[in-house]
Amino acid sequence: MLDCLVRNANLPDGRKGIDIAIQDGRIVEIAPAIQAEARREIDAANCLATPPFVDSHFHMDATLTYGQPRVNESGTLLEGIALWGELKPHLTVETIKERARKLCHWAIAKGTLAIRSHVDISDSRLLAVQALLEIREEFKKFIDLQLVAFPQDGYLRSPGSVENLTRALDMGVNVVGGIPHFERTMKEGAQSIKLLCELAAERGLPVDMHCDESDDPLSRHVETLAYHTQRLKLQGRVTGSHLSSMHSMDNYYVSKLMPLMKEAELNAVANPLINITLQGRHDTYPKRRGMTRVKELMAMGINVSFGHDCVMDPWYSFGSHDMLEVAHMGLHVAQMTGVTEMKRMFDAVTINGARTLCLEGYGLEPGCFGDVVILQAGDIHEALRLRSVRLYVIRRGQVISQTPPTEARITLGGEELTVDFRHGT
Ligand code: FE2
Repeated sequence: MLDCLVRNANLPDGRKGIDIAIQDGRIVEIAPAIQAEARREIDAANCLATPPFVDSHFHMDATLTYGQPRVNESGTLLEGIALWGELKPHLTVETIKERARKLCHWAIAKGTLAIRSHVDISDSRLLAVQALLEIREEFKKFIDLQLVAFPQDGYLRSPGSVENLTRALDMGVNVVGGIPHFERTMKEGAQSIKLLCELAAERGLPVDMHCDESDDPLSRHVETLAYHTQRLKLQGRVTGSHLSSMHSMDNYYVSKLMPLMKEAELNAVANPLINITLQGRHDTYPKRRGMTRVKELMAMGINVSFGHDCVMDPWYSFGSHDMLEVAHMGLHVAQMTGVTEMKRMFDAVTINGARTLCLEGYGLEPGCFGDVVILQAGDIHEALRLRSVRLYVIRRGQVISQTPPTEARITLGGEELTVDFRHGT
């Protein structure tokens, strides 16, 4: 007997009325009208079934601190960093865990079962590292949580960061981070990339750096990251996060840069909600959008995924950890509204994210993990348009979250009608 059988699901690739059979935590068959019995059978009723959402870039140590000790009034990245600095001395392992736990619950309810979270190692007490390692363990049955050692105050700029970052890796943090544009000079930024990539190569770890998160058209750290990736043969294991400066760069220079990124097999992560909010703050009009060149990077064949980055923290006051909201913003900012482009936006919060995180066993194929999210939507377009309810979230064949469908009852005179905002599916 199967553990779980999902009936009549539509799939992201356009197939309709498909059954998904899960046994011992893995998908064993995916086909129409499977003849089998299961302990749990779910009728998807032609709703969209997708592999779980993946958040490629998040900050779980700072999340849900909105208003502590105050709100970011200017809305800038730099005031956010200053605000986080004010908050850090008051952090405790327990309060970080409490907030992170709540965020994980939100993520599960929204069908996001893989998250790469940066964790600030600038404070020598490494409380956030300890807290998030414990959260990673606590949630490992439900969420694949990757932690990035992130020197928020600068790797070379902030005393103690070099030692702290190594200690964080020794404690079990599994990705090397960086913030080259925040170092004192372009030269020190480039030096930080060299040292951090060498550290990753020595330890066999992936790299994920905040890289050129600025509106500076002359910032050149993406190029340096691509260079050291190739030099150290780290292809496919290195991610440049944000890359916002690429929005403002000279077009000729970008035409040289993107092939270098492709050669180095860099993953690119954009954070649409945050980029559109934080970048361009020094502009009058026209105001730049600040999101990296998602459409052009994808056309070049570079793996681009999206992150939520922030939920109610010093940098961003909004959000509920909904990756469909991220994709929805991404497609607006990148103006990727065509049919193929919509699919790419959905990929950016699912399969592309899995590639960035190098996840094993991800997808809707026999042999993949039995992880499935069923949405109150018939297809990708509807899921993006409505940021649909996650009716069922299934992990390793077990339902771990259920949400009732959205339905409004309207009364017009004597007539009662039901509205669910779906259209023609
Ligand atoms: Fe970030």
